[in-house]
Amino acid sequence: MRLPETGTNEIVPSILSADFARLADEMAVVESAGLAIVHLDVMDGHFVPNITFGPPVIASLRKTSSLVFDSHLMITDPAKYAKDFVEAGSDHITFHIEADDQPRKLIDKLHSLGVTAGISLNPETPVEAIEKVAPLCDMVLVMTVHPGFGGQEFIPQAAKKIAAIRKIVGPSIRIEVDGGIDPETAPIVVGYGADTLVAGNAIFSKTDRIAAIKAIQEAAK
Ligand code: DX5
Ligand code: ZN
Repeated sequence: MRLPETGTNEIVPSILSADFARLADEMAVVESAGLAIVHLDVMDGHFVPNITFGPPVIASLRKTSSLVFDSHLMITDPAKYAKDFVEAGSDHITFHIEADDQPRKLIDKLHSLGVTAGISLNPETPVEAIEKVAPLCDMVLVMTVHPGFGGQEFIPQAAKKIAAIRKIVGPSIRIEVDGGIDPETAPIVVGYGADTLVAGNAIFSKTDRIAAIKAIQEAAK
C-alpha cells in the first residue's frame, strides 16, 4: 500500500488513544469510515518518556487490515530498527531528525527497503534542521505537541512551521501534523498547508468514532 497522491486532505487516526485490547476492531472502524491511512505510534521509553508497541504488534495488525500503515518511530537509533518495522508490514516510516544524525542515509535505506520515508521535527526544532532532507522525503511530520502522549494541547507556535515547510517541499510532498488535532485546530493547520491530519484523542475518546472522524473531515475542508 502507498500513501495517497497529494491533492486530498487525509484524516489519519492514531491508535495510541484506542483500546489496546481491541486494536483490530478499532482499525476496522477506521477502515469502514473510508479512511486510507492509520498512524502507529512507536515509543521506546528513551527518545520519549513512554513505551507503546513494536514490530510484533504491527505484524499482527497487518494480518487484519489493508489500511496504509504509517509508522511514527519515536525511538532512539531508528536506523537500527527500520528493517524490522518494514518486515512487520509498515508502508510508510517516519523517524525524528532529533534521533538520527545521518538522515539522508536512512531515507535512502527506507526507499531501498520498499517503503516511503518521512522526517519529523519536535515543536522546539527549527525548520532549518530538516531543510535539506525534507525534499527527499515522501511526507514531513510536524509535531504540534511534545511527543510521548495522546490528548495533549495543540501548540500554535509549532504549527506555524508548516507554512515554511510547504514552501520548501512544494505541492507534491505530504505534510502531516500530529498532536492536538480536532475540529477546532484542523482548519488552522490546513490553512498553513498541511494535508495529512493525525488525530488520536479527538477520535478514540468519543463513543461514536465515525461521527468524530466526519467532524474533523468537515472542519478540514
Ligand atoms: C504523540 C503521538 C501522536 C498522538 C496524537 O506523541 O505521536 O500521534 O497519538 O494524539 P492526539 O491526537 O490525542 O494529540
Ligand atoms: Zn504520532
